[in-house]
Amino acid sequence: MDQVVAIIILLVFLFANVSMIQGSTRVGFYSETCPKAEKIVKSTVESYVNANIGIAAGLLRLHFHDCFVQGCDGSVLISGPSSERTAIPNLGLRGFEVIEDAKGKIEAECPGVVSCADILAIAARDSVVLTKGLSWSVWTGRRDGLVSYASEVLANLPSPTDSVSVQKDKFAAKELTTEDLVTLVGGHTIGQTDCQFFRYRLYNFTSTGNADPTINPDYLAELQRLCPADGDATKRVALDKDSQNNFDVSFFRNIRNGNGVLESDQKLWSDPSTKSLVQMYAGALGGLFGLRFELSFAQAMVKMGNIGVKTGTEGEIRKICSQFNG
Ligand SMILES: *[C@@H]1O[C@H](CO)[C@@H](O)[C@H](O)[C@H]1NC(C)=O
Repeated sequence: MDQVVAIIILLVFLFANVSMIQGSTRVGFYSETCPKAEKIVKSTVESYVNANIGIAAGLLRLHFHDCFVQGCDGSVLISGPSSERTAIPNLGLRGFEVIEDAKGKIEAECPGVVSCADILAIAARDSVVLTKGLSWSVWTGRRDGLVSYASEVLANLPSPTDSVSVQKDKFAAKELTTEDLVTLVGGHTIGQTDCQFFRYRLYNFTSTGNADPTINPDYLAELQRLCPADGDATKRVALDKDSQNNFDVSFFRNIRNGNGVLESDQKLWSDPSTKSLVQMYAGALGGLFGLRFELSFAQAMVKMGNIGVKTGTEGEIRKICSQFNG
């Protein structure tokens, strides 16, 4: 019973907050002009995720990387010399073919109507749902951007070696709070990273000759086995130990227990300004705290999805997601 009351309070809290966000996108932007758009994205994402569940995390990450550079405008999807895709932090991105496939099917149904930026935002939501996370209504009406510069990627995207203070600054630059930061990093509950992005923590961290002391000793042995000092730099390791395909709070419990893989994730537990949020999401009171995370994640995704959106007559509706109409 208490849980039911808490759920109702959380729902009221969620909708009250969302309605206050002043974006220019809205739920159901294509309900008249392309009513099948969301269904087409969903079935396309489903078929790829069923074949390879890792694609779900890839699509969520692709949306995130899109939004942090030039806003959520599909700029990350452009291919070609010196586009965002060619920047080092974007080299491991995956899921482009899913967006292009959904775009092709939607163009056949209603040409020139649905933006690639919106397809990506819908695909990110569907990916969370397919990994058993909570759904939300995606606000649509974004238009596709007209530029994509590799040179803008590094300064805008958070990096695995960023301090909490730098991570907070990068989120604040997009009008996202510290709570949004911790919540959105929770997206690491699904997916993997490469040995090269954390191996420096395992052997000679900050030239001490030892591993990062914040790594749980049991887990350190496992990570060292997975990523030998001279092994394959591109070998993939789960970001959320033992739960990489389930969208849940296990990621926060892993952080609390010293089982974070990326340095920037583990630091959320060292910094007093983020520790309490990790603690809350990791909370042991069963489903309730899981729900709190999932509702907050949905809310933070709507907020992130409104970063720098182009609407109305700005930008264009691309015909092919990897190319400007030009
Ligand atoms: C750790 O790195 C420092 C600086 O590069 C180096 O001087 C030292 O020998 C290394 N220690 C080990 C145990 O590899």
